[in-house]
Amino acid sequence: MPADRTLTIIKPDAFGRGLAGKIIAHLEDAGFRISVARVVHLSREQAGAFYEIHRERPFFASLVAFMTSGPCMPIVLTRADAVAALRRVIGATDPREAEAGTVRRLYAESKERNAIHASDSDENAAREAAFFFSDIEVLGAR
Ligand code: CMP
Repeated sequence: MPADRTLTIIKPDAFGRGLAGKIIAHLEDAGFRISVARVVHLSREQAGAFYEIHRERPFFASLVAFMTSGPCMPIVLTRADAVAALRRVIGATDPREAEAGTVRRLYAESKERNAIHASDSDENAAREAAFFFSDIEVLGAR
């Protein structure tokens, strides 16, 4: 996947509170454009596979329960320097540590129920985009 793309997920806490529109507007105002998006309700197997890297962490079971608690919205976003730019815009994992004006500071409830996910590297962005979307959806008419 080209380095101008990254994967975000509007998580079940934010999606369920009707915050998808506000969060997407925030991301568009920051220069991101939507490449492809959908709404999905993950199964336990799917959530576990997506967060495979955290399987041994103490919060894994709780994270899977949260991510399967309702629909969420995976989105492939485009922008120059997409991965780093999105992580700046969403802020720290824990909203209490996130800078003012970031998505998590504005909309997250807790370190777990933190409103939004963002890929942490170009490699993981490609892996995570492929988890939800086909190549033709991610890359489009390039
Ligand atoms: P995310 O950026 O999607 O990556 C892993 C997720 O696990 C993280 O956001 C939080 O939702 C959750 N998470 C990370 N650390 C903790 C923690 N210490 N306690 C509970 N949940 C966490």
